Formats: sequence, C-alpha cells, structure tokens
Amino acid sequence: MKQKTLFLCSDCGYESPKWFGKCPSCGAWNTMSEFKVQPETATRGVLPSDGRGRIQNKPVLLDDIDTTSEDRFHSGIGELDRVLGGGAVHGSFVLVGGEPGIGKSTLLLQMCQEMCKAAKVLYVSGEESLRQIKLRARRLDVRSSNLFVLAETDMDEIVQETDLLKPDILIVDSIQTVYRRDLTAAPGGTTQIKECAMSLMQYAKRNSVTIFIVGHVNKEGTLAGPKILEHMVDCVLYFEGERTGPFRCLRAAKNRFGSTNEIGVFEMSDRGLLEVQNPSAAMLAGHPTGASGNCIACVMEGTRPLLAEVQALVAKTQFGGSPRRTAAGVDYNRMVLLLAILEKRAGLFLSGSDAYVNVVGGMRLDEPAADLPMLLAIASSFRDKPLPEGVMSFGEVGLTGELRAVSSAAQRIQEAYRLGFHTCIMPMQDLGDGLPKDMNVVQVRTVQDAIRAVL
Ligand code: TYD
Ligand code: MG
Repeated sequence: MKQKTLFLCSDCGYESPKWFGKCPSCGAWNTMSEFKVQPETATRGVLPSDGRGRIQNKPVLLDDIDTTSEDRFHSGIGELDRVLGGGAVHGSFVLVGGEPGIGKSTLLLQMCQEMCKAAKVLYVSGEESLRQIKLRARRLDVRSSNLFVLAETDMDEIVQETDLLKPDILIVDSIQTVYRRDLTAAPGGTTQIKECAMSLMQYAKRNSVTIFIVGHVNKEGTLAGPKILEHMVDCVLYFEGERTGPFRCLRAAKNRFGSTNEIGVFEMSDRGLLEVQNPSAAMLAGHPTGASGNCIACVMEGTRPLLAEVQALVAKTQFGGSPRRTAAGVDYNRMVLLLAILEKRAGLFLSGSDAYVNVVGGMRLDEPAADLPMLLAIASSFRDKPLPEGVMSFGEVGLTGELRAVSSAAQRIQEAYRLGFHTCIMPMQDLGDGLPKDMNVVQVRTVQDAIRAVL
C-alpha cells in the first residue's frame, strides 16, 4: 500500500500536502513537519453524532429526528454536571484540558463513583500504574464494582480491550501519552494526538460510547495541546486555577449540548475535589479591610453572579527603569488600557509607576464589568487610600472615561447584599424594582465621578 505524505503545523494542526516555511493558517514559522499516513487514515473524515451516539449518514427530514430521549450520564458532582449542560450526553466526546497537576485525573476518577452506578466505565491511564490509580481511588473514597481500569498507551490495545469490555463510558488519561503504532511520529506530537483522537472518536460514534479524554495544556505552549482537538470534540472543558491555591474553576470553552457560560468551582482538599457551594463567600475569605489597593468586583459567570477581590499595587518605578506591569487573573492589555485612561481622564500620573494587578483565589475575570473595580483598586493603591468598608463595584469603562452599562445589574447587587456589602458603585442604568432597601446604590457617569465617590 502506498503511503501518503502530509505536512502538519505543530501549533495549530493545519495540514497540507505541501511544506511551507510559514504556516498559512496561523502564521507561525518553521512549525510544519512531515509525517506519513496510510491512505485510509488520510481520507477519513469526522462524522457528526446525533447526540445519542448514532452516526447520521443519510439525509433525513429535520422534523423526523427524534430528540425526546436526550439521555445523559450524571456525575453526581453538581458543578461538573452544570458545566456539561446537565450531565454528559450519551455518545458524546468530551475533552478535559488543563495544566499538569491541576486535578483533571482527580476530577474524572471522582466522577466515576456516581457514573458507575448507571454505566460500565473503563478508565485508561497512560500516566499511572494500576496500583497508583487504586491508591488514589482509595484516597478519594471511590469504590465501585463497575469501574474497570487499564494502564495502556498503545491505541490498538486500547481499542481492542474496549471492544471486548464494551463499556458505556471510556476515559483516556491522557491523549498526550497514547500513540498509534502505524505512525512514525512521536507520542505527544500533533500527528499522534490528532490521529489517536480520531480513532477514539470513530470508535465512540460507531459503538455509542461516551468518551472523556484528558489533554494537558502548558502555559508556554511547547506541548502540542488540546487546541488542535477542539474542533472535533463535542465539549471542551478547561480546568483552571493556581496550582498553589485551593480553588479550581471548570469552564466550558465549547459545548454542543449546553451553554458555554457556566463555570464550576471546586476546592482541592486532601480528600480530592470538593464542590464550592458558595463561591463568592469562598473568594472573599480573608479579604483585608482598611488596606489600600483592593476593590470587590461582581462578575457574571453564566447565570451566577460571583464576587471576587481585585488587588492592585502601584509603586514608584526605580530611577531610570521603564515601568513594569503585570496582570494575574485579568487581561494584561485591559489593565494597560485602564492605566492609560486613569492617566488621561482622571489625571493620575501612572507612567512613572510600576503596577501589578491580581485577582485573589486564582479566578480569571474576563468580563468587562471587572473594569471599574480594577480601576478603583489601582487608583486606591496609587493614592494609598483604602476604599470605604462595605463597598463593591462593577461596570465597563470606555475610552473617554465613561462608564457603560452591564447586564444583570440587579442580580449582582443582590449577591453583593447577600454577602454583606452595603454600597455599590456602578454605571447609570435602569435597575427595576425589588432591590434591597438599605443597599446604597451609587450610579456614576465617569471614572472621575467614581473615584470622587470613594477616594
Ligand atoms: P491530578 O488530578 O493528578 O492532576 P492532573 O491529572 O491534572 O495532572 O492532581 C494532582 C494534584 O492534586 C497533586 O498535586 C496533588 C493534588 N491532590 C490533592 O491535593 N488531594 C487529593 O486528594 C488528590 C487525589 C490530589
Ligand atoms: Mg493526571
């Protein structure tokens, strides 16, 4: 059989029959590498599932498609089920990504405990020995008669064993450790990852197996990551957080069977991951009062409001140096923009200062509603003056220093009130009725007004 040659970009997974110095898809240089594939693997396509694991390969009328029984496996972990959109749909293909050591294996093993009650589960690990898995399961108090484990990295063996066992749910931990013997590329590379995922996907769709695959992500992006798999799976969940801190946040980056806004918050303990029922309270634990450079923000995570503490430190730049800026938990460019707005619109001379912004608890605040609290935290640190006690804020900041309305304002205020805040600095916008009576809502038009109101 004649082998076919393909060139693949190790950054974005772009494939082409020709070699390029610069990837035409992502523009990276020297990332295209050659590999050989058997003819049938080169022409295989991805077949979409109907959400119940069957392959739809004949045209049917949209009206005739039966969706009455969209069955889901429940994990018994409320936070995980919500992120999945109410459990894992039968026959779906779920990718769980995150940095090494963040808790992906722990989460999946814990999930087995409940799922085993309704289904036969096979947990394939390419990273740990059976003994290690057993020890971890004991620590997490996972016991079940319907959970099978396999320590294997060879894809052919995995598919063969899965075929014999016929599980309802297959977990592969991790996609970077498995490999296909017929490919010359090294395990963990783009080619192997793509082809192994493809084999699993085809197996899943043909046999109605629900598959979870783990994919490691690293910050530097030197590992061929799960990004290249995003387009072929049904759900992409990312597990985020500071490895040194206790909190972990599970976020859906893609979900064919639910919303992508929901997050799940967990705490890593010595007995595994615990669900955090009241994330706002957890994020605010230990928040200092009477210290300058911090402000409480309220962001919406899906349908839930979440309070978080934004901290800033502004210090004079050492003589002759250029000002340093670092951002953790917020977008760096957004922070630099807010510094410029503060300087230009509120007259705070920040270009001679270093500025550091951090969100306590390892949360990431990507919503524009976090602009105003970030700006107030910076201003508070610059003036070395704390915000009054019991104050929180939210609001988007525009380039002219105007404050712009955000969604679900009333819900955010309710949440802040519930946690004991009595003053809210926010943009001018309609709030409707039903706000707590003793909540002091201060609506302001510009960043100057906001600073004047609290500093
Ligand atoms: P793990 O699930 O192995 O991470 P991943 O699969 O994403 O690489 O989690 C590993 C970390 O979690 C490890 O540093 C130890 C910690 N951990 C606990 O704190 N408590 C526990 O009960 C378990 C199982 C792990
Ligand atoms: Mg692991």
